[in-house]
Amino acid sequence: MKNQDFAPRVVRWQRSHGRSELPWQNTRDPYRVWLSEVMLQQTQVSTVLGYFERFLARFPAVADLAAAHEDEVLGLWSGLGYYSRARNMHRCAQEVVARFGGEFPRTAAQLETLPGIGRSTAAAIASFCFGERVAILDGNVKRVLTRFLGFEGDLASGANERSLWNLATQLLPSDVAGDDMPAYTQGLMDLGATVCMPRKPSCLICPVAADCQAQARGEQERFPVKTRKLRRTSQSIWMLAARDAQGRVWLEKRPASGIWAGLYCLPCFDSRDELGAGMLAPAAGALVDAPPFVHVLTHKDLHLHPVIWKAPSDTQVSPRGAWFDEAAWQALGLPAPVRKLLTELRA
Ligand code: ADE
Repeated sequence: MKNQDFAPRVVRWQRSHGRSELPWQNTRDPYRVWLSEVMLQQTQVSTVLGYFERFLARFPAVADLAAAHEDEVLGLWSGLGYYSRARNMHRCAQEVVARFGGEFPRTAAQLETLPGIGRSTAAAIASFCFGERVAILDGNVKRVLTRFLGFEGDLASGANERSLWNLATQLLPSDVAGDDMPAYTQGLMDLGATVCMPRKPSCLICPVAADCQAQARGEQERFPVKTRKLRRTSQSIWMLAARDAQGRVWLEKRPASGIWAGLYCLPCFDSRDELGAGMLAPAAGALVDAPPFVHVLTHKDLHLHPVIWKAPSDTQVSPRGAWFDEAAWQALGLPAPVRKLLTELRA
Protein backbone atom coordinates (compact mmCIF):
# COMPACT_ATOMS: atom_id res chain seq x y z
CA MET A 1 0.00 0.00 0.00
CA LYS A 2 1.17 3.49 -0.74
CA ASN A 3 0.37 6.59 1.22
CA GLN A 4 -2.30 7.51 -1.32
CA ASP A 5 -4.25 4.43 -0.23
CA PHE A 6 -4.34 5.62 3.37
CA ALA A 7 -7.30 8.00 3.11
CA PRO A 8 -9.57 5.74 1.00
CA ARG A 9 -9.02 2.89 3.46
CA VAL A 10 -9.78 5.07 6.45
CA VAL A 11 -12.93 6.38 4.73
CA ARG A 12 -14.17 2.92 3.75
CA TRP A 13 -13.43 1.56 7.23
CA GLN A 14 -15.23 4.46 8.92
CA ARG A 15 -18.35 3.90 6.82
CA SER A 16 -18.53 0.21 7.69
CA HIS A 17 -16.91 -0.04 11.15
CA GLY A 18 -16.68 3.45 12.63
CA ARG A 19 -19.00 5.09 15.09
CA SER A 20 -22.16 6.52 13.53
CA GLU A 21 -24.77 6.87 16.27
CA LEU A 22 -23.30 9.60 18.46
CA PRO A 23 -25.70 12.53 18.88
CA TRP A 24 -23.31 15.02 17.29
CA GLN A 25 -22.92 12.87 14.18
CA ASN A 26 -25.37 12.92 11.30
CA THR A 27 -25.63 16.67 11.66
CA ARG A 28 -23.90 19.48 9.86
CA ASP A 29 -24.94 22.08 12.35
CA PRO A 30 -21.67 23.76 13.35
CA TYR A 31 -23.08 24.76 16.74
CA ARG A 32 -23.64 21.12 17.70
CA VAL A 33 -20.37 19.96 16.22
CA TRP A 34 -18.44 22.75 17.94
CA LEU A 35 -20.12 22.01 21.29
CA SER A 36 -19.27 18.31 21.04
CA GLU A 37 -15.68 18.87 19.88
CA VAL A 38 -14.93 21.24 22.76
CA MET A 39 -16.52 18.88 25.29
CA LEU A 40 -14.62 15.91 23.82
CA GLN A 41 -11.23 17.67 23.98
CA GLN A 42 -10.36 16.22 27.37
CA THR A 43 -13.38 14.13 28.24
CA GLN A 44 -14.62 10.67 27.28
CA VAL A 45 -17.59 10.16 25.00
CA SER A 46 -19.62 8.40 27.74
CA THR A 47 -19.29 11.42 30.05
CA VAL A 48 -19.94 13.98 27.33
CA LEU A 49 -23.29 12.46 26.22
CA GLY A 50 -25.33 13.76 29.19
CA TYR A 51 -23.67 17.17 29.26
CA PHE A 52 -24.19 17.61 25.53
CA GLU A 53 -27.94 16.92 25.85
CA ARG A 54 -28.33 19.27 28.84
CA PHE A 55 -26.40 22.07 27.13
CA LEU A 56 -28.52 21.81 23.99
CA ALA A 57 -31.76 21.65 25.98
CA ARG A 58 -30.85 24.84 27.83
CA PHE A 59 -29.10 26.61 24.92
CA PRO A 60 -30.70 25.39 21.67
CA ALA A 61 -28.78 27.91 19.56
CA VAL A 62 -25.51 29.77 19.79
CA ALA A 63 -27.36 33.03 20.53
CA ASP A 64 -28.93 31.47 23.63
CA LEU A 65 -25.51 30.53 24.94
CA ALA A 66 -24.13 33.97 24.12
CA ALA A 67 -26.93 35.63 26.11
CA ALA A 68 -26.51 33.44 29.21
CA HIS A 69 -24.83 34.52 32.43
CA GLU A 70 -21.36 33.02 32.87
CA ASP A 71 -22.38 31.48 36.20
CA GLU A 72 -25.09 29.43 34.54
CA VAL A 73 -22.70 28.20 31.83
CA LEU A 74 -20.15 27.16 34.46
CA GLY A 75 -22.93 25.53 36.49
CA LEU A 76 -23.97 23.36 33.53
CA TRP A 77 -20.30 22.54 32.90
CA SER A 78 -19.75 21.53 36.52
CA GLY A 79 -18.07 18.13 36.72
CA LEU A 80 -16.55 18.21 33.20
CA GLY A 81 -13.37 19.90 34.46
CA TYR A 82 -10.96 22.14 32.54
CA TYR A 83 -13.25 25.10 33.08
CA SER A 84 -11.34 27.40 30.73
CA ARG A 85 -13.12 25.42 27.99
CA ALA A 86 -16.48 26.62 29.31
CA ARG A 87 -15.39 30.24 29.67
CA ASN A 88 -13.87 30.23 26.17
CA MET A 89 -16.99 28.57 24.83
CA HIS A 90 -19.13 31.33 26.28
CA ARG A 91 -16.86 34.03 24.80
CA CYS A 92 -16.80 32.17 21.49
CA ALA A 93 -20.62 32.16 21.34
CA GLN A 94 -20.61 35.90 22.02
CA GLU A 95 -18.09 36.49 19.21
CA VAL A 96 -20.07 34.35 16.76
CA VAL A 97 -23.04 36.62 17.46
CA ALA A 98 -21.06 39.89 17.46
CA ARG A 99 -18.66 39.25 14.58
CA PHE A 100 -20.56 36.78 12.38
CA GLY A 101 -24.22 37.64 12.99
CA GLY A 102 -24.89 34.42 14.88
CA GLU A 103 -23.67 32.05 12.11
CA PHE A 104 -20.43 30.13 12.58
CA PRO A 105 -17.91 30.99 9.84
CA ARG A 106 -17.49 28.24 7.24
CA THR A 107 -13.71 27.91 6.92
CA ALA A 108 -11.12 26.47 9.30
CA ALA A 109 -9.02 29.62 8.97
CA GLN A 110 -11.87 31.81 10.22
CA LEU A 111 -13.03 29.34 12.86
CA GLU A 112 -9.52 29.37 14.31
CA THR A 113 -9.83 33.09 15.09
CA LEU A 114 -12.50 32.31 17.71
CA PRO A 115 -11.74 31.80 21.44
CA GLY A 116 -11.04 28.20 22.43
CA ILE A 117 -10.93 26.92 18.84
CA GLY A 118 -7.42 25.69 18.00
CA ARG A 119 -6.18 24.45 14.66
CA SER A 120 -7.40 20.87 15.09
CA THR A 121 -10.85 21.78 16.43
CA ALA A 122 -11.29 24.34 13.63
CA ALA A 123 -10.42 21.65 11.08
CA ALA A 124 -12.79 19.14 12.67
CA ILE A 125 -15.71 21.57 12.48
CA ALA A 126 -14.88 22.69 8.92
CA SER A 127 -14.45 19.15 7.61
CA PHE A 128 -17.54 17.74 9.36
CA CYS A 129 -19.89 20.61 8.54
CA PHE A 130 -18.55 22.09 5.30
CA GLY A 131 -16.47 19.27 3.80
CA GLU A 132 -13.30 21.39 3.83
CA ARG A 133 -10.11 19.51 2.99
CA VAL A 134 -8.14 20.28 6.16
CA ALA A 135 -6.21 18.04 8.55
CA ILE A 136 -6.98 17.44 12.21
CA LEU A 137 -4.20 16.52 14.63
CA ASP A 138 -5.33 15.88 18.18
CA GLY A 139 -3.62 13.51 20.60
CA ASN A 140 -5.29 10.38 19.22
CA VAL A 141 -4.58 11.30 15.61
CA LYS A 142 -0.93 12.04 16.39
CA ARG A 143 -0.67 8.47 17.64
CA VAL A 144 -2.31 7.00 14.51
CA LEU A 145 -0.19 9.02 12.08
CA THR A 146 3.19 8.73 13.82
CA ARG A 147 2.74 4.96 13.99
CA PHE A 148 1.60 4.61 10.40
CA LEU A 149 4.45 6.79 9.12
CA GLY A 150 7.07 5.60 11.62
CA PHE A 151 7.55 9.30 12.40
CA GLU A 152 10.62 9.50 14.65
CA GLY A 153 10.59 13.26 15.31
CA ASP A 154 10.21 14.26 18.94
CA LEU A 155 6.85 16.02 19.24
CA ALA A 156 8.16 18.06 22.15
CA SER A 157 9.72 20.21 19.39
CA GLY A 158 7.53 22.65 17.51
CA ALA A 159 9.41 22.03 14.26
CA ASN A 160 8.62 18.30 14.39
CA GLU A 161 5.03 19.03 15.22
CA ARG A 162 4.84 21.31 12.15
CA SER A 163 6.32 18.52 9.99
CA LEU A 164 3.63 16.17 11.23
CA TRP A 165 0.93 18.73 10.38
CA ASN A 166 2.35 18.85 6.84
CA LEU A 167 2.33 15.07 6.57
CA ALA A 168 -1.22 14.97 7.93
CA THR A 169 -2.21 17.37 5.16
CA GLN A 170 -0.49 15.22 2.50
CA LEU A 171 -2.44 12.17 3.66
CA LEU A 172 -5.86 13.85 3.21
CA PRO A 173 -8.28 12.40 0.63
CA SER A 174 -7.23 13.80 -2.73
CA ASP A 175 -10.74 14.37 -3.99
CA VAL A 176 -13.41 15.79 -1.72
CA ALA A 177 -16.14 15.78 -4.36
CA GLY A 178 -17.45 12.46 -3.03
CA ASP A 179 -18.01 13.99 0.41
CA ASP A 180 -15.20 11.98 1.95
CA MET A 181 -13.98 14.58 4.43
CA PRO A 182 -16.49 13.97 7.24
CA ALA A 183 -15.93 10.20 7.07
CA TYR A 184 -12.16 10.63 6.87
CA THR A 185 -11.97 12.96 9.87
CA GLN A 186 -14.30 10.77 11.92
CA GLY A 187 -12.40 7.67 10.78
CA LEU A 188 -9.10 9.01 12.12
CA MET A 189 -10.77 9.82 15.44
CA ASP A 190 -12.43 6.41 15.60
CA LEU A 191 -9.21 4.58 14.74
CA GLY A 192 -7.38 6.44 17.50
CA ALA A 193 -10.13 5.82 20.06
CA THR A 194 -11.04 2.21 19.29
CA VAL A 195 -8.17 0.49 17.38
CA CYS A 196 -4.87 2.35 17.59
CA MET A 197 -4.88 2.63 21.37
CA PRO A 198 -1.94 3.79 23.46
CA ARG A 199 -1.32 0.26 24.80
CA LYS A 200 -1.91 -3.01 22.97
CA PRO A 201 -3.38 -1.59 19.75
CA SER A 202 -5.72 -3.90 17.81
CA CYS A 203 -3.59 -4.09 14.67
CA LEU A 204 -5.41 -7.22 13.45
CA ILE A 205 -8.53 -5.18 12.70
CA CYS A 206 -6.78 -2.02 11.52
CA PRO A 207 -7.55 -1.02 7.91
CA VAL A 208 -4.06 0.44 7.35
CA ALA A 209 -1.96 -2.12 9.27
CA ALA A 210 -0.50 -3.55 6.04
CA ASP A 211 1.59 -0.41 5.57
CA CYS A 212 2.00 0.72 9.14
CA GLN A 213 5.70 1.31 9.81
CA ALA A 214 5.40 0.86 13.57
CA GLN A 215 3.51 -2.40 13.19
CA ALA A 216 6.06 -3.71 10.65
CA ARG A 217 8.79 -3.13 13.23
CA GLY A 218 6.72 -4.36 16.16
CA GLU A 219 7.25 -1.01 17.86
CA GLN A 220 3.75 0.41 18.06
CA GLU A 221 4.06 1.56 21.64
CA ARG A 222 7.23 3.55 20.95
CA PHE A 223 5.15 6.10 18.99
CA PRO A 224 4.48 8.97 19.24
CA VAL A 225 7.99 9.98 20.33
CA LYS A 226 7.74 12.72 22.92
CA THR A 227 10.47 13.36 25.47
CA ARG A 228 9.24 16.22 27.56
CA LYS A 229 7.89 14.89 30.79
CA LEU A 230 5.14 16.72 32.55
CA ARG A 231 6.67 18.37 35.58
CA ARG A 232 4.23 17.74 38.41
CA THR A 233 4.01 20.09 41.34
CA SER A 234 2.00 20.03 44.51
CA GLN A 235 0.21 22.70 46.46
CA SER A 236 -1.47 22.82 49.86
CA ILE A 237 -4.70 24.76 50.26
CA TRP A 238 -6.64 25.39 53.45
CA MET A 239 -10.36 25.79 52.84
CA LEU A 240 -12.78 27.36 55.24
CA ALA A 241 -16.05 25.43 55.21
CA ALA A 242 -18.43 27.70 57.11
CA ARG A 243 -22.01 26.45 57.63
CA ASP A 244 -24.73 28.27 59.49
CA ALA A 245 -27.57 26.84 61.54
CA GLN A 246 -29.83 26.58 58.45
CA GLY A 247 -27.19 24.47 56.67
CA ARG A 248 -26.17 27.23 54.28
CA VAL A 249 -22.52 27.42 53.19
CA TRP A 250 -20.32 30.44 52.59
CA LEU A 251 -18.91 30.61 49.03
CA GLU A 252 -16.87 33.13 47.07
CA LYS A 253 -16.57 33.51 43.29
CA ARG A 254 -12.96 32.82 42.28
CA PRO A 255 -11.00 35.46 40.34
CA ALA A 256 -11.17 35.35 36.53
CA SER A 257 -7.71 33.78 36.21
CA GLY A 258 -5.74 31.09 38.01
CA ILE A 259 -6.93 27.84 39.49
CA TRP A 260 -10.74 27.26 39.28
CA ALA A 261 -11.16 30.67 37.60
CA GLY A 262 -14.72 31.95 37.74
CA LEU A 263 -16.04 29.04 39.82
CA TYR A 264 -17.64 29.36 43.24
CA CYS A 265 -15.48 28.02 46.04
CA LEU A 266 -14.90 27.94 49.79
CA PRO A 267 -12.51 30.70 50.91
CA CYS A 268 -8.97 29.38 50.24
CA PHE A 269 -5.72 30.12 52.06
CA ASP A 270 -2.07 29.17 51.69
CA SER A 271 -1.67 28.23 55.35
CA ARG A 272 -3.68 27.49 58.47
CA ASP A 273 -2.54 30.78 60.00
CA GLU A 274 -3.71 32.78 57.01
CA LEU A 275 -7.09 31.10 57.25
CA GLY A 276 -7.49 32.28 60.83
CA ALA A 277 -6.37 35.78 59.89
CA GLY A 278 -8.60 35.95 56.80
CA MET A 279 -11.86 35.54 58.68
CA LEU A 280 -13.86 38.64 59.46
CA ALA A 281 -15.65 37.14 62.46
CA PRO A 282 -13.69 35.74 65.40
CA ALA A 283 -14.13 31.99 65.69
CA ALA A 284 -11.74 31.16 68.52
CA GLY A 285 -11.98 27.53 69.49
CA ALA A 286 -14.80 26.85 67.04
CA LEU A 287 -12.71 25.76 64.06
CA VAL A 288 -12.50 22.02 63.48
CA ASP A 289 -9.76 20.61 61.26
CA ALA A 290 -11.22 17.88 59.02
CA PRO A 291 -8.99 15.16 57.51
CA PRO A 292 -6.94 16.50 54.60
CA PHE A 293 -7.31 14.83 51.19
CA VAL A 294 -5.52 14.92 47.83
CA HIS A 295 -7.16 16.06 44.61
CA VAL A 296 -5.16 15.30 41.46
CA LEU A 297 -5.12 17.85 38.61
CA THR A 298 -3.26 17.44 35.31
CA HIS A 299 -0.12 19.26 36.42
CA LYS A 300 -0.56 19.34 40.14
CA ASP A 301 -1.49 17.39 43.27
CA LEU A 302 -3.64 19.55 45.51
CA HIS A 303 -3.41 18.77 49.23
CA LEU A 304 -6.68 20.12 50.56
CA HIS A 305 -7.18 20.86 54.24
CA PRO A 306 -10.81 21.60 55.08
CA VAL A 307 -11.43 23.58 58.26
CA ILE A 308 -15.02 23.49 59.41
CA TRP A 309 -16.81 26.24 61.24
CA LYS A 310 -20.37 26.21 62.55
CA ALA A 311 -20.94 29.90 62.06
CA PRO A 312 -23.60 32.07 63.64
CA SER A 313 -26.32 32.87 61.10
CA ASP A 314 -25.78 35.98 59.03
CA THR A 315 -22.09 36.30 59.86
CA GLN A 316 -20.07 37.99 57.13
CA VAL A 317 -17.42 35.25 56.98
CA SER A 318 -14.94 36.80 54.53
CA PRO A 319 -14.74 40.10 52.64
CA ARG A 320 -16.20 38.66 49.42
CA GLY A 321 -18.80 35.93 49.24
CA ALA A 322 -22.29 35.06 50.41
CA TRP A 323 -24.38 32.34 52.03
CA PHE A 324 -25.89 29.74 49.69
CA ASP A 325 -28.53 27.18 50.58
CA GLU A 326 -28.28 23.70 49.15
CA ALA A 327 -30.48 24.29 46.12
CA ALA A 328 -28.40 27.36 45.29
CA TRP A 329 -24.95 25.78 45.62
CA GLN A 330 -26.01 22.64 43.76
CA ALA A 331 -26.69 24.79 40.69
CA LEU A 332 -23.33 26.61 40.78
CA GLY A 333 -20.10 25.75 39.00
CA LEU A 334 -18.00 24.34 41.85
CA PRO A 335 -14.58 22.65 41.77
CA ALA A 336 -15.14 18.88 41.99
CA PRO A 337 -13.43 18.47 45.40
CA VAL A 338 -15.51 21.32 46.85
CA ARG A 339 -18.73 19.75 45.62
CA LYS A 340 -17.64 16.45 47.15
CA LEU A 341 -16.80 18.09 50.46
CA LEU A 342 -20.09 20.02 50.64
CA THR A 343 -22.00 16.85 49.81
CA GLU A 344 -20.24 15.00 52.64
CA LEU A 345 -20.76 17.83 55.13
CA ARG A 346 -24.48 17.88 54.35
CA ALA A 347 -24.89 14.28 55.44
N1 ADE B 1 -13.36 12.95 20.04
C1 ADE B 1 -13.19 14.15 19.48
N2 ADE B 1 -14.09 14.36 18.51
C2 ADE B 1 -14.85 13.24 18.45
C3 ADE B 1 -15.95 12.84 17.66
N3 ADE B 1 -16.43 13.63 16.71
N4 ADE B 1 -16.48 11.63 17.87
C4 ADE B 1 -15.97 10.82 18.83
N5 ADE B 1 -14.95 11.14 19.60
C5 ADE B 1 -14.38 12.34 19.42
